[in-house]
Amino acid sequence: MEYAEAVEQAPPGWRHFTIEDVARLPEAVWRHEMARIPDGEPGERIIRALFWTLVYHLEPEKWDQLARHEPIHPDLIHALPSGVDIALDVGAGSGRLTQQLVTRSRRVVAVEPSAGLRAILTRRLPAVSAVAGWAESLPLEDGCSHLTAASGAFGPDPPVLAELRRVTAPGGMIALISPESPEWFEAEGWLRITAPPLQAPHHPAWLDEFFGPLDPPHELVTMRVDA
Ligand SMILES: C[S@@+](CC[C@H](N)C(=O)[O-])C[C@H]1O[C@@H](n2cnc3c(N)ncnc32)[C@H](O)[C@@H]1O
Repeated sequence: MEYAEAVEQAPPGWRHFTIEDVARLPEAVWRHEMARIPDGEPGERIIRALFWTLVYHLEPEKWDQLARHEPIHPDLIHALPSGVDIALDVGAGSGRLTQQLVTRSRRVVAVEPSAGLRAILTRRLPAVSAVAGWAESLPLEDGCSHLTAASGAFGPDPPVLAELRRVTAPGGMIALISPESPEWFEAEGWLRITAPPLQAPHHPAWLDEFFGPLDPPHELVTMRVDA
């Protein structure tokens, strides 16, 4: 998401954080995120832009609560291949999509920069290899994945898409659930599936107050990597 858009669209919970919280981010995360913030920005705009990063790294259990009440639409899960050898979940969070890949693959690798989210994922899915890393430079070999997936994490970002392609084996699939700008992917020839929106299941009121209205993922775009 563009910086200005992230500032504008920060959920109401941004007020929960302070500029001191930004300084508490792990150093590598702080450097990665501050690289996209223009010089001289006021603290309030920085906090708004970094809202999601602050949640993932400082309050991972809050993200996990949200993810548990925003289940991925079952039509999208059914559209994913099964009987896969190695599947990869990039930006795996606490494992909302990863748990679905486990039932469809012999082995699953989850890449996630937040140590707190990796800890939740590993506790819940001990058979999954959870590794630290960024989508822009995946710590994985070329062509190692037969299903490279992500949910709610990326959009039409050339360095990220190049990495997803690099790690996917010829004939393998890249599948992005709820990508930013799904219309861009469709125009580029990706297959797009839009399921009817489903209401979030019954959930505690604080989730809406903190994150805004819940919106369970209901879009999928897929692309086969040339064999
Ligand atoms: C909206 S959450 C989605 C988590 C999970 N995929 C799910 O569907 O529940 C986005 C995730 O992407 C991770 N993330 C953000 N930027 C990333 C990047 N550049 N590379 C890899 N992961 C990233 C965040 O830490 C967070 O866990």
